[in-house]
Amino acid sequence: MNLEEKDLINKLKEIKEKEDVSAIKKELQSFVEAINNIKEDVIGYEYDDKALTINKTTLCIYLNNMLEQSSKERVDFYYDRLIKALTEVKTSKYNDINLNRWKEYDDILTDSLWIIDQRDKNASHSGDYWGNFVPQIPNQLLKRYTKAGEWVLDPFLGSGTTLIEAALLGRNGIGIELQEHVAKIAKERVEAIQPTETKSEIVLENSQAIELDKVLKQLNIKKVQFVLMHPPYWDIIQFSKHKSDLSNNETLDDFLDAFGQVIDNTTQYLEKGRFAAVVIGDKYEKGEWIPLGFYTMQEFLKRGFKLKSIIVKNFDETKGKRNQRNLWKYRALSGGFYLFKHEYIYVFQKK
Ligand SMILES: C[S@@+](CC[C@H](N)C(=O)[O-])C[C@H]1O[C@@H](n2cnc3c(N)ncnc32)[C@H](O)[C@@H]1O
Repeated sequence: MNLEEKDLINKLKEIKEKEDVSAIKKELQSFVEAINNIKEDVIGYEYDDKALTINKTTLCIYLNNMLEQSSKERVDFYYDRLIKALTEVKTSKYNDINLNRWKEYDDILTDSLWIIDQRDKNASHSGDYWGNFVPQIPNQLLKRYTKAGEWVLDPFLGSGTTLIEAALLGRNGIGIELQEHVAKIAKERVEAIQPTETKSEIVLENSQAIELDKVLKQLNIKKVQFVLMHPPYWDIIQFSKHKSDLSNNETLDDFLDAFGQVIDNTTQYLEKGRFAAVVIGDKYEKGEWIPLGFYTMQEFLKRGFKLKSIIVKNFDETKGKRNQRNLWKYRALSGGFYLFKHEYIYVFQKK
C-alpha cells in the first residue's frame, strides 16, 4: 500500500467501501503493515486543504480496533471514530485538549496520585529556590485548565516556575511576589525564555492587599482564567521578614485568615466556571500533625468553590532529612507518627 501521497482519509474510505468484513480486514491488515513500515512516529495527512498529523501508534490503535471487530456494523463504528479523530476537533471550554484525540495525550496525568521522581530541568528553571515546586505541577495544571492565549495568576510567585511554564505553553501570566530580589530573579528567568506572543507581568506586592484591578486594567484584561497558589506551608520555611509574608503568621488562625484574604483578593478576578488550584503540604508541631492542606481547602469551600480534585503528590526528602534517615525513622517509630512523603494539590471550580 502506497502512503507516499499522504492521502490517509481517502485510503480509509476505499477500505471501508469493500463489501464484506473479511475483505475490509485483509486491506486493513496490509494498511497497518504499511504504516508500521513508516520510519517517522508522526504521520502527515491532508484534510480540508490543511496539512494535519496523527501519532503513528495512535493510528495503529484505531486501526487495530477496527480489525478486532467481527461485524461490518462494528467496523463502521470504529471507522467513524477514527474519521472523527482525524477530521474534527472537540475541546472543552477550559483547555485545548482535543477530546476526539484523547488517546494521544500520554503526557497528561488524570490520576489523583502523582509520583514525580525527577524535576523537569528544561528551559530556565533552576530549582535553586528553597520552597519552589517542580515545573511539572504548573505544566500539568495549565494544560488541563487553560487554553493558549489565556491568563494565569500566581499570587505566590517565588522563583517564577508558573510563569515560565505558562510562557512555554503559550499562556500569559501575572505573578505576585513579596520579596524584591526573588521577584527580580523570577523576572530574569521568565524573560530568558519569553516567546514574543505571550505576556508576563511580575508585580512586587502583597497578595492580600494588591489592587489587582489596576494591574488588570493596565494589561487590558478584566479577568484571569486560572489561579495557581503555592503559599508558604505556614511557618515551615520562613521566606522573609516581611510582616505580610504568610510564613510569619503567629498562629494557625492568622495564617488561614491571611490565606483567605489572598483567596478573596485574587479569585474575584477569576472568570466564573474556571479553576483555581492550591499546592500545599502539612506540618508537624509538638507531637501533632497539623493538616494545613485540609484547613486551606476549607477556606476555599467556605467561599463557595466547588472541590474538583484532591491530588496527592510525592514529596522528596530534604537533603538534611536524607542524611539523617535512620534518626528520623527512629523518631517516627518512637513518636507514633509517619514521616511526610506527600503534599496536596487541590483543584477548585468557581461557581
Ligand atoms: C512556596 S513559595 C512559592 C514558590 C514558587 N512556586 C516557585 O516555584 O518558586 C511561596 C512564596 O510566596 C511569597 N509570599 C509569602 N507571602 C506573600 C504575600 N503576602 N504576597 C506575595 N507573596 C508572598 C514568598 O516570598 C515565597 O516566595
